[in-house]
Amino acid sequence: MKIAMGNDHTAIEMKDEIKAFVEDLGYEVIDFGTNATESCDYPKYGEEVGRAVVNGMADLGIAICGTGVGISLACNKVKGVRACVCSEPYTAKLSRMHNDSNVLCFGARVIGVEMAKMITEEWLKASYEGGRHQRRVDMLAEIENRC
Ligand code: RB5
Repeated sequence: MKIAMGNDHTAIEMKDEIKAFVEDLGYEVIDFGTNATESCDYPKYGEEVGRAVVNGMADLGIAICGTGVGISLACNKVKGVRACVCSEPYTAKLSRMHNDSNVLCFGARVIGVEMAKMITEEWLKASYEGGRHQRRVDMLAEIENRC
């Protein structure tokens, strides 16, 4: 299973830690960067992660910026992306099970690495339940289609 990862300059260390953690769990990581410490713009990396997930290059994505908010907004601009900012594992797990989230976001300036690992593992291990949730996920796609 392939995981697309992207981040801005605030999250290089966090990305490196989570990338190694995800690889240790047995996933392949496609790293869209940034890996440069100069200030950069999170929309570029969010879009790249979102497109990789939607076009099938990756199965899921993980995107990190200072708060997780900016990069999640960028991911969610790509049609078909359901990106969620999570600061604890419960929301992350339920975002997979109920919302079929396909990109996980968090803030490198908000949570520590150990919390990020716990969130990531719960999210990756969880599966979409479908059933009654499918109608609501379909409704999200319908909103996109009306725009
Ligand atoms: C960069 O300073 C910061 O604005 C960015 O990482 C992110 O937190 C935006 O949502």
